Amino acid sequence: MHPHVSQLTLEEKAGLLSGGSFWKTRAVDRLGIPSMVLTDGPHGVRYQREDSDHLGLFDSEPATSFPTASATGSSWDPELVEEMGRALGAESRAIGVNILLGPGVNMKRSPLCGRNFEYFGEDPLLAGVLGSAWVRGIQSQGVGASVKHYAANNQETDRMRVSAEVDERTLREIYLPAFERIVCETQPATIMCSYNKVNGVYASQNRWLLSDTLRGDWGFEGYVVSDWGAVVDPVAAVAAGLDLAMPGAGESVPESIVEAVRSGNLDEASVDTAVSNILTVHDRLLADRPAVTPDHAANHALARRIATESSVLLTNEGSILPLEAGQGGNIAVIGEFARTPRYQGAGSSHIKPTRLDDALSAIRAMSDREIGFAAGFSFDGADDSTLRAEAVELASRSEVVVLFLGLSDAEESEGFDRKNLLLPETQRLLVADVVAANPNVIVVLSNGGVVTLDGIAGVVPAVLEMWLGGQASGSAAAEILFGAAEPGGRLAETIPLALSHNPAHVNWPGSDGIVRYGEGVYIGYRWYDATDREVAFPFGYGLSYTRFEYSDLAVRVADRTVAQATVQVTIENTGARAGSDVVQVYVGDVESTVDRPARELKGFVKVHLEPGERRTVTIDLDDRAFAFWRQGSWVVEPGAFTIEVGSHSRSLPLREVIELEVPTPVIVPDRDSTVAEWADHPSGMKALREVLSHFGPAAEAMVGEETLQMVGSMPLRTMLTFAAQAAPETVDLDEIIESLLSEVQQAGPVPA
Ligand code: BGC
Repeated sequence: MHPHVSQLTLEEKAGLLSGGSFWKTRAVDRLGIPSMVLTDGPHGVRYQREDSDHLGLFDSEPATSFPTASATGSSWDPELVEEMGRALGAESRAIGVNILLGPGVNMKRSPLCGRNFEYFGEDPLLAGVLGSAWVRGIQSQGVGASVKHYAANNQETDRMRVSAEVDERTLREIYLPAFERIVCETQPATIMCSYNKVNGVYASQNRWLLSDTLRGDWGFEGYVVSDWGAVVDPVAAVAAGLDLAMPGAGESVPESIVEAVRSGNLDEASVDTAVSNILTVHDRLLADRPAVTPDHAANHALARRIATESSVLLTNEGSILPLEAGQGGNIAVIGEFARTPRYQGAGSSHIKPTRLDDALSAIRAMSDREIGFAAGFSFDGADDSTLRAEAVELASRSEVVVLFLGLSDAEESEGFDRKNLLLPETQRLLVADVVAANPNVIVVLSNGGVVTLDGIAGVVPAVLEMWLGGQASGSAAAEILFGAAEPGGRLAETIPLALSHNPAHVNWPGSDGIVRYGEGVYIGYRWYDATDREVAFPFGYGLSYTRFEYSDLAVRVADRTVAQATVQVTIENTGARAGSDVVQVYVGDVESTVDRPARELKGFVKVHLEPGERRTVTIDLDDRAFAFWRQGSWVVEPGAFTIEVGSHSRSLPLREVIELEVPTPVIVPDRDSTVAEWADHPSGMKALREVLSHFGPAAEAMVGEETLQMVGSMPLRTMLTFAAQAAPETVDLDEIIESLLSEVQQAGPVPA
């Protein structure tokens, strides 16, 4: 317990459990407890000196606008993301921010989620590894992180009320592991609970989430802060494990907590624990204060490097890219986004950049070729036919066209979801007309959530996805176009051929306050693989300016009775340019008692290689790489597992099958377990047959070879009720069940 807890009055303690203002906690001057500043986040520091808001309406102090998470997710590069975390930490420290609200590690369940730009991707391992790196980076500067939004906040529609109805296995395997990894690896200062309900209970007052899982299972030592305005019942929230309700909303929260304690409706010990959690974290942040001076020029350069490392080259027919910067005919730069970049998302993460690079100026600065420009469309949705005609005219007299397309703030934002995956109609019309005038078109995209590329991919020779790439994304795009940098990103989410192919489609976005996660663990590529769907661009995919070959896969299992393996593989750059690729390792459980995805990403490493260079990389797989969640714990079943290695989820040229001889996990059956489940237990059936033998032959016949299949799905208690009717005398069923239970419990959950 923090030493100040015993010195504070109940009123002071209750006060510390909610904000003093929009971005600040309360101080207690007489004990020297300072007020601390928490602010957005996640891709830049949104520090507001004057009017405060969480919708991105009022201005904030200038800060580096780094690439958003949809970009950094595609970098697959934890070292780079950690570097970004350090830069964010330094900028936060310098401006007086103690806790930066991020990273966002929710899964991209549907590509329609308006806030997908703030999340890393559709795979929990990738999001967890990158989220951990982000937190390590920022916390190394004495600034706390706030990992959000915990949990199952995967849509904006009705986000403040909707109940995400998700089974526990799906939560444990898909929606929670990123949070779990970050907590276990980095002890983030805070976790931010989400607005929505999870299985009927608001996250802000969900004891299972905030206490049992977060602290009980994962050992979280920081504090839980509410999303801004997420607390519905402050007393229930504190009782469930919420520590700090934000923002400050006057005295109503402290008063209701004091009143609940006085009337015996809230245990004061819960208040003490929450105060102690908060003050302990704040002490740590105040003690841990390395000297930092942010270098905004260096951070701009870092933002550019991250943007190039995160950009995904989707197509490049005839190697049209990279372009020659020094010589060649006219280049037509078309699209309003080339002049007016869209580089960050709308909503609470919106910040004021220190600088802003636009692609048009960067292209002009980098190339000696003649560069023409036409806007092609406007952002206001007006009739763009004149702009389109000008663009077509420019395209027809140019050698090559670079066409900047994307989504605007009106099409994707925090607060609402997208309606479809298409680019706006005015842009699609523009593509068709420009291509007809000049087929040498390179499309450059700026968008947070993915767009389907009907009428674009396969029609134009090259498509480069820049995401919302931060304040330097314009110059980053120019570097890639001219080959001064490499498109280093790989997709962190599948681009489907059609919205209706998405696994969440029929359950999206729910109705009557409920959204059902009916697809279970089959999110993203797990679903497209299970249903043999063609996709536009698969998870993990992205082209390079060079080529890579994979060889010599060796999977070593030191001890088959332990679920661990070491994967070694050699990758060679067989092209003429330097470049990087992401070695991806997928694991599949060949035979399982539950339905499992054919393959799941369990390890990856980004490798940079000079032309002709070869490297052997090693990736360790621990027991979680083979496990699934069943009835309260992680289990690994013995048998065969596939290990597939390659450059994306649909290009896995190397494959090995390993056999694990781990002990068969045993479920101890109970009175509700079925006869089949009793039969699965090593001593369960023997004990059951023994009991039935006393009831006579008719009862015994119920579990004979031929009948077992028919009664297999009966719960034990039901089956015994029927069997007891054949008994020669009245039997005490409860007593019999108790004796059966004690027999199987002695065998224990783990067999010899
Ligand atoms: C968002 C959070 C953000 C908070 C403070 C909320 O509306 O969901 O992500 O950190 O506002 O701006």
